[in-house]
Amino acid sequence: MEINNIYSESGIIITLILILIPVVIASMIITMKAYAYLDRKQKIRELEKFNAYLKELSPDEVQKLEQRKRELEFALSNNELAGDTSPMDHKGLITAVNDVETLRFIEQKKKSQPRPYIEPELTKLILWYIGCATFWLLLGTTIGEYLGIKFVAPDVDHFSWLSFGRLRPVHTNMVFWGWASLAMMGLAYYVIPRVSNVPIQNVKTGYYSLILINASVIIGSICLMAGINNGGGEYREYIWPVMALFGAGIVISLINFFKTIANRTTKEIYVSNWYIISAMMFLLVIAFVAYWPTWQSGLGETIVQGYYMHQGVGMWFMLFNLGLMYYFLPQQLNKPIYSYSLGILAFWAQILFYTLIGTHHFIFSAIPWWLQTIAIVGSAGMVFRLWQEQPIS
Ligand code: HEM
Repeated sequence: MEINNIYSESGIIITLILILIPVVIASMIITMKAYAYLDRKQKIRELEKFNAYLKELSPDEVQKLEQRKRELEFALSNNELAGDTSPMDHKGLITAVNDVETLRFIEQKKKSQPRPYIEPELTKLILWYIGCATFWLLLGTTIGEYLGIKFVAPDVDHFSWLSFGRLRPVHTNMVFWGWASLAMMGLAYYVIPRVSNVPIQNVKTGYYSLILINASVIIGSICLMAGINNGGGEYREYIWPVMALFGAGIVISLINFFKTIANRTTKEIYVSNWYIISAMMFLLVIAFVAYWPTWQSGLGETIVQGYYMHQGVGMWFMLFNLGLMYYFLPQQLNKPIYSYSLGILAFWAQILFYTLIGTHHFIFSAIPWWLQTIAIVGSAGMVFRLWQEQPIS
């Protein structure tokens, strides 16, 4: 089909509108901020004028103003009727008085907590991670919006690069690897040095890792839009060299984290580090099993798909986020975790049971029965795992 003017294509118009929405909102916020800034400046100028005026007043006028200030500040003490004497109950009319003034079960929320010192270079690195993650979130969800539009208007455009089949994996992979994974990694750069009580071993290699992960999402998305993909299973559409870039990024940070934890000044390795480090190690296993092309055919591919989908969620996203939560939840609630041992038990139960459950989607299938049995047993075992997950009392 010949296209005369791409701006008359409804797909392009809708995309432009979607881009325009955040731009308009950002402009409104900037205008409001600028207005508030000018307003503040104006108030400061008025205050300075008023100060100059006060300096020129005679002692009499100053005294009058102070008198007026005292009058305006006058307020009742609110015990005019009761007086200051303590209450007495000679006739024993008041009984069962409860002395507890605060709720016993809920810790009083602190208004503010002292912030731990973070080296400025590390702060910058973490902000880069979070910034890139946010970028992928905005782009990924904009693509999601466009996919949603395609549900109701399938003919919205006729470019092969923007077809639903190609954009869908662009969306899903972008939010997994670009948004969620980079945000998790950024927060790990915060948590690991905190709970190890030492600075991060090397800030610079954190940037190499960030560049490699970003590169894999950029190249992966372009490849998918160009129709170059893994062909096989859902959520692993990037071709293996692209995923190898992602894996290399993870390896660099993993070494960085290992060295930081090895330098720790705490006796124990805090449970957050157990979870985060093993999630990163599992990511490498998952990526190798799911992307290496040699065994991706026939029934083997189905088994790999079941394994991959579960391990991606359970051993990368969930394990990693649990590690982060074991730090942030107690820290924000200002309470210690209920049981450190339960956290460790949960960790091993997760590794023992969760890694075995992939085939439970293919019960009574052609997959060997022993593998299906293992998946069923592993899935039932998750009952123990979930019961243990109660980090806060
Ligand atoms: C405004 C935000 C978003 C919109 C409009 C959106 C839209 C979509 C659409 C239209 C699909 C295709 C559904 C299908 O093929 O039936 C999809 C799939 C998916 N999206 Fe999003 N999405 C958004 C945000 C996100 C985020 C933030 C994540 C993850 C962090 C995410 C993860 C997924 C996943 C996992 C799928 C595959 C679901 C499935 O196969 O059932 N999405 N999204």
